[in-house]
Amino acid sequence: MARPDALPADAVPPGSATDDSAAGPAADIPTADAPGRRLAVVTGATAGIGAAFARALAGQGYDLLLVARDAARLAAVAQELTARHGVRAEPLPADLSTTAGCVLVEQRLAAGVDLLVNNAGRSLHTSFVRATVEQEEQLLALNVHAVMRLTKAAVVPMVAARRGAIINVSSASAFATMMPGSTYPATKAWVNAFTESVALSVRPFGVRLLTLCPGYTRTEFHDRQGIDTSKMPGFLWLDADDVARTALRDLRKGRLLSVPAWRYKAAVFAMRHAPRALVQRAARDGRGRIGR
Ligand SMILES: NC(=O)c1ccc[n+]([C@@H]2O[C@H](COP(=O)([O-])OP(=O)(O)OC[C@H]3O[C@@H](n4cnc5c(N)ncnc54)[C@H](OP(=O)(O)O)[C@@H]3O)[C@@H](O)[C@H]2O)c1
Repeated sequence: MARPDALPADAVPPGSATDDSAAGPAADIPTADAPGRRLAVVTGATAGIGAAFARALAGQGYDLLLVARDAARLAAVAQELTARHGVRAEPLPADLSTTAGCVLVEQRLAAGVDLLVNNAGRSLHTSFVRATVEQEEQLLALNVHAVMRLTKAAVVPMVAARRGAIINVSSASAFATMMPGSTYPATKAWVNAFTESVALSVRPFGVRLLTLCPGYTRTEFHDRQGIDTSKMPGFLWLDADDVARTALRDLRKGRLLSVPAWRYKAAVFAMRHAPRALVQRAARDGRGRIGR
């Protein structure tokens, strides 16, 4: 078994402009169909944080398999990345809240990839009391079930190859009941616990997992759910490109958890260490109100 300090895996192509790791060059591992090249799979790659990951990884020379539901938009994103960065970018339309959609991606992951970013996720602009069971099940299917399935499909060949990395996108809201009466933070708390647990089990095999916990980030996320963010103070907002860059840097450093921006690092620290009663008193978010 490989020792953790002898990790051959690195999520960044050696010698790339952003490769600031001290781990030295990693061995070339043939990807599914192009020996010597690196392949990353990004879910939810057409918008927000997923699109930012796709841009950052294309800039680092990764070939990409891009997943989302909107096939036309996926094709446009893939074309743009190829034109700008000269990498191969393949669109794979799939609805990850369905088993059939997950299976499509799993088949590609089974062939071996260098990096998987489980980014696609959603929320509900409805309290648990008002939401239908179907809505809650769709939320769990995308935020939990798909993350479990794709992690499983990717991590097994990674362990066999003794290299590879997975980033699971969670949320700062996972650390406290920031949206009372909502399943969303519970799904992200699951992502945190799951990712940390799997990360520790596969680390000795040279495979890295990272949980990314961003705070409010300017994307399409809130508009999609009809969430009014107009009263949100400007300083709370993060930039999706900064979030993706921070995660990739933290992955290179071998961290298990990435919380972009000091203001959110401080908030997460407080949520993790303050007395629970205090955290509960501070919890506030209109989305969870029963009236919605
Ligand atoms: N934005 C924030 O403030 C924030 C904060 C913390 C955590 N996060 C987390 O960050 C992740 C990305 O969020 P974002 O803000 O970047 O969202 P976004 O801008 O709404 O983008 C969502 C992406 O996921 C795809 N997607 C949605 N449902 C899908 C499905 N069923 N199957 C496959 N793809 C699907 C969308 O494309 P299609 O519609 O074409 O499928 C799109 O590419 C999520 O996991 C979210 O929970 C976001």
